[in-house]
Amino acid sequence: MRRTLTSYAIAACAVALCALAACKSDSGTNPPTTTGDKTHGEYLVKNVAVCGDCHTQRGVTGLPIDSLNMAGGVAFSIPNLGTVYSRNLTSDSTHGIGAWTDQQIITAFRTGIAPMHMHNGVAMDSVLFPVMPYWLYGYLTDSDAKDIVAYLRTLKAVSYDPPMDTIPAAARVTWPKQAGIPDATTNDATTQRGKYLVTVAACIDCHTIPAATTTNPFASGVNMSLFLAGGRPFETIEPGKLIMSKNITPDVATGIGSWTSSQIDSAFAFGWDDQHRALCPPMPWEAFNGMTSTDRAAIVAYLRGIPAVSNTVPEDTTLHCPHP
Ligand code: HEC
Ligand code: HEC
Repeated sequence: MRRTLTSYAIAACAVALCALAACKSDSGTNPPTTTGDKTHGEYLVKNVAVCGDCHTQRGVTGLPIDSLNMAGGVAFSIPNLGTVYSRNLTSDSTHGIGAWTDQQIITAFRTGIAPMHMHNGVAMDSVLFPVMPYWLYGYLTDSDAKDIVAYLRTLKAVSYDPPMDTIPAAARVTWPKQAGIPDATTNDATTQRGKYLVTVAACIDCHTIPAATTTNPFASGVNMSLFLAGGRPFETIEPGKLIMSKNITPDVATGIGSWTSSQIDSAFAFGWDDQHRALCPPMPWEAFNGMTSTDRAAIVAYLRGIPAVSNTVPEDTTLHCPHP
């Protein structure tokens, strides 16, 4: 289970701790190095890769906490291993990435290797746990990667140190760039763009179950024979209740093969399924709603052309969500 709704509750505790520790935001200094296009970087960060979903804590209301924008500390509990917290991506030079070079930032989010750095006197492990989807962001083009850095440099410095994780160092293994991502049957510029977006928007992460291993379920990528066929469980705010990611392959019986293009678009970018039921978190449709219509159409074209996988996803044990 990766991104869980219970993390919202944990995030609220972290805010209380922050208040005790008299956290403050300061304006800091932003290194003036970057050549990327920060407007396009903002689009990628907010509407495609949705970095803030994992790097901004949410309050009790479920809304992101503005004063901790992109400052990390969102908790992910990993069964049998411990808890990992996202890290501070603001330009604070002590707790964030303000002192890193552009290349160090790009290497961290594309390969999972961060530079050695200290947090409150403790050396942070430089091998990032693969909850952070660097194994998909590895496909980001140089130009898009630079644009992301240019945008991150504009983030207000937040002097906040996320809690230390409790993952054993031995469980930290770099997960290579995901291999075997298929082309669509009609392999043209549109479906190639769709494939790129489905990769860097991490649809693959949430909609594909991890490859089974006996030791560490997060050590070997996702199960490509069930590519985008759903079934990854996510915790909800109701204790013990789960919501499953759905089969978004063109299989007619178990996937979205019978949906029209506009139904697919309404689902992933507007939050309505084919029965006009609202989609629940963590499906980040509100972020995808800001994608350009060209990019949304490319995603639809790609999803319609990938291999159909017959996979019946287990029933959700939670009720459907109200549409905001
Ligand atoms: C699914 C959740 C998730 C998403 C989405 C995500 N991250 Fe992360 N990220 C994490 C977690 C968790 C860590 C900490 C990993 C660890 O400690 O091993 C992390 C760590 C990082 C680090 C290392 C920082 C440090 O101080 O070591 C960088 C850089 C980073 N993320 C950038 C990004 C960018 C840029 C995006 C969007 C393009 C992004 N992340 C999207 C979960 C996520
Ligand atoms: C953070 C995890 C996450 C990410 C990232 C994500 N999804 Fe989802 N998605 C879900 C979950 C969970 C559901 C089930 C929601 C529900 O049933 O209420 C879902 C549901 C859907 C549905 C509705 C399918 C159905 O049968 O009802 C579509 C379509 C969809 N996602 C497409 C996408 C696309 C396309 C992307 C990438 C652009 C994407 N998702 C990224 C978690 C995610």
